[in-house]
Amino acid sequence: MTELKAPVEPFRIKVIEPIRPVPRKERDALLRQSGFNVFGIPAEKVTIDLLTDSGTSAMSDNQWAGLMKGDESYAGCKNFYHLEKSVQTIFGFTHVIPTHQGRAAERVLFGAIVKKGDCVPNNIHFDTTRANIEFLEAQAVDMVNPGGYDPDSAHAFKGDMDVPRLKKLIEAKGVKRIPLVMMTVTNNSGGGQPVSLKNIKEVSQVCAHYEIPFFLDACRFAENAYFIKKRENGHAKKSVLEVAQEMFSYADGATMSGKKDALVNIGGFITFDDDGLAEKVKNLLIISEGFPTYGGLAGRDLEAMARGLNEVLDEDYLEHRTAQVAYLGGLLDQAGIPVFKPFGGHAVYILADRFLPHIPRAQYPGWALTVALYREFGIRAVEIGGVMFGQKTGKGKKEVYPELEMVRLAIPRRVYTASHLQAVADALIEIHKNRDKVRGLRIVRESPFLRHFTARLEEI
Ligand SMILES: Cc1ncc(COP(=O)(O)O)c(C=O)c1O
Repeated sequence: MTELKAPVEPFRIKVIEPIRPVPRKERDALLRQSGFNVFGIPAEKVTIDLLTDSGTSAMSDNQWAGLMKGDESYAGCKNFYHLEKSVQTIFGFTHVIPTHQGRAAERVLFGAIVKKGDCVPNNIHFDTTRANIEFLEAQAVDMVNPGGYDPDSAHAFKGDMDVPRLKKLIEAKGVKRIPLVMMTVTNNSGGGQPVSLKNIKEVSQVCAHYEIPFFLDACRFAENAYFIKKRENGHAKKSVLEVAQEMFSYADGATMSGKKDALVNIGGFITFDDDGLAEKVKNLLIISEGFPTYGGLAGRDLEAMARGLNEVLDEDYLEHRTAQVAYLGGLLDQAGIPVFKPFGGHAVYILADRFLPHIPRAQYPGWALTVALYREFGIRAVEIGGVMFGQKTGKGKKEVYPELEMVRLAIPRRVYTASHLQAVADALIEIHKNRDKVRGLRIVRESPFLRHFTARLEEI
């Protein structure tokens, strides 16, 4: 077995935040109190937190310095113009409309163009885009290529959309019922897999043919662009910025959660060219997010996002970022733990139904693994499986489960070192050895939308 090389962090640590171990007995009690839902555990009681890469980045000295340059004027603060410039340079669209985070961008965009009975295709909708569409009584349809659900194939771009299926759907539903087509880069709900530039171009051509707007869900655009540079023929010599610019050149707009690839703790935006749409979106924005030059954010937040968008394109940073994911994934893979391959940009995804084959899908093996990981080692991860995406449909409301039952170990940007990742791998290897002891769960309380955030469960 070849020894995996730990990636060297391309930064020094200037400020630290202590992590305190929590006794197992206390972790067990906290799990019971939270209804066996790790979203209900106070963060201080978590030793290594891989719940999400969203809003958990460590900001740079340059971003912290930018906070002091916050201009807190109600309208037209200078930080808005800095953000506008960063976004226009990378994304290339004229309108830049800030929002407090990604789902707010989705809500105001969909609120302006999606109607009851419409249908919105995506490679795989993230849970908030799906929920925002379904909330408007429209249909969110996943159209990733069939290989996208195969965790074992070596396909370099498993996030690609199934173009023939997209065409069929448009023909079947009719153009009028499809207000936009979306593509999530990278495809978070499908193993964090990238989308190729070739596929983005093909989807763009289909949308142009039918005159349907094409938007990228761009949360992780820099990681996606880096994979294109590394894996897709003909792009190796381009800078990541140039690849990103080309990605956006095929789209009509983008929604963005700055909490990922803008390296900030809060923030987002929508960007596109259509003047009529801008008017509608801004009207909706004013009701809930605020004036269009701040969109629910402080001037200092806008500045941090403007700076983060430039930092994220640093290729040393992106090389380390993807190497961290590959390192953790490689440690698990070498130990025989079933993982989604190839490794994506922001997380390692464990195939929980294979990890815990004695737990049926109806007892949520992915959720059970998140409970075991916290109880035994104080590590927090998230289930991306039956609790997050299970749907009760048809007669008798039988629950239908998503194709993949996974646990995502999301790596916050610039936060953990290689030795933290080694500790996570050691913990999972230990649980895997004793996997027969892990128990399934049943849901005892749930909400109608995004139930995983607040559901209460009990062990069987
Ligand atoms: C692909 C994708 N889209 C949208 C969102 C929503 O962003 P936010 O959490 O900022 O609302 C997320 C968040 O995780 C995401 O991963």
